Amino acid sequence: MTVTHNTLKPWPRLASQLVHTLERPWLSAIVRKSAVEDTLNALHPLLSLDTVKARVVHITHESPTVRSFILEPNAHWQGARSGQFVRVQAEINGRRTERAYSLSSRGGAQRLALTIKRKEGGLMSNFMHQQLRVGSVLTVSQAEGEFVLPANEPLPGKILLLSAGSGVSPVMALMRELHEQEYAGDVCFLHVCRDASEQIWVDEMLLIGAQMPGLTVVTHLTATQGRLDAQALLATVPDLAERATWLCGPAAWMDQVHALWAEKGYASTLTSERFGGGPTVPADAGTPVSVVCERSATQFMTEGAQPLLVQAERAGLAPKHGCRIGICRSCQCTKKSGTVENLLTGEISSAPNEEIRLCISTARSDVTLAL
Ligand SMILES: Cc1cc2nc3c(=O)[nH]c(=O)nc-3n(C[C@H](O)[C@H](O)[C@H](O)COP(=O)(O)OP(=O)(O)OC[C@H]3O[C@@H](n4cnc5c(N)ncnc54)[C@H](O)[C@@H]3O)c2cc1C
Ligand code: FES
Repeated sequence: MTVTHNTLKPWPRLASQLVHTLERPWLSAIVRKSAVEDTLNALHPLLSLDTVKARVVHITHESPTVRSFILEPNAHWQGARSGQFVRVQAEINGRRTERAYSLSSRGGAQRLALTIKRKEGGLMSNFMHQQLRVGSVLTVSQAEGEFVLPANEPLPGKILLLSAGSGVSPVMALMRELHEQEYAGDVCFLHVCRDASEQIWVDEMLLIGAQMPGLTVVTHLTATQGRLDAQALLATVPDLAERATWLCGPAAWMDQVHALWAEKGYASTLTSERFGGGPTVPADAGTPVSVVCERSATQFMTEGAQPLLVQAERAGLAPKHGCRIGICRSCQCTKKSGTVENLLTGEISSAPNEEIRLCISTARSDVTLAL
């Protein structure tokens, strides 16, 4: 059976009718939705009742450690805005694993591009680099995230796109969007990487540069130029104050950029995306409390004020997770009872049957989780 993107076009309407029918109480007692999903999947890996599946149609080796995976999604894909990310799911060593990846492709593009750096010892990035082939099929979420250009207002006249390392993925998506929109303002695209071997998309940037007179591309190579600290940044882009900035890179470096922008009073002009870093854990650990994980029939006592995700891993559980910084919601779980603190906002909540993100929640009393 040959299933192409076009033959799948009428599928979402048909599938949603099927889902609606399967949810009728009398039918759901006889036919399980998951069984229908398995049957569809056996017929063709791109078929699903409601899930976005995407086939790898091309793989580009961008550098020794970075590959771009070009994906063709099935008809459930609802599109993205440039700069957004998706959650990618894969079965690795018998466990469903999920990580967030920005789209390096422009939002309006038919094919999605994920540009992934292989992390030493990393589960998903090594799986993607080693196991994915043209023809492999991945499960992806709909696009999420706020790292986007303004939609209903004119673009600012001066823009700084600032990236380091794999943070270049969503920033490149914004660059491609500006190019597509024939943006005529002043853009400085400043990318930081270790050396020339890590530089990617050089030819494409030359091509874009030739068509966008207002574009300045600067690559800062730390191996020869040292770290791009506040002083070097101000020397490279002296008109920071006049620019709206989009920032993505390693957490520690982003913290420095945020601090500089705050110190100079430009914080409101900065939009950023974090790939990692984790929430700040209070030094005051309080007294250990009990955590009951109902589904896994496990109970443990907390040590320190680490997020519940870390505490559960320490107790030998392996909760689903992606970003570990509260963005992707992969670790979302129902808290049946107890009090937790959101480590990002400081909000304390005792509501029963509340959805919490384990990676940013710390227990403030005995807690029962549907985990
Ligand atoms: C919104 C968002 C967008 C993102 N976009 C991109 C993107 O475009 N490109 C990209 O490359 N990445 C991106 N990321 C990062 C990505 O989600 C993953 O975090 C990254 O690929 C690493 O995942 P992994 O499964 O390979 O590594 P993991 O298995 O999660 O491990 C990460 C690191 O921790 C180490 N480690 C793992 N377990 C342990 C342990 N128990 N003790 C000590 N060390 C350990 C590993 O060796 C590895 O170095 C994004 C993240 C977010 C939140
Ligand atoms: S792991 Fe992404 S929100 Fe918790």
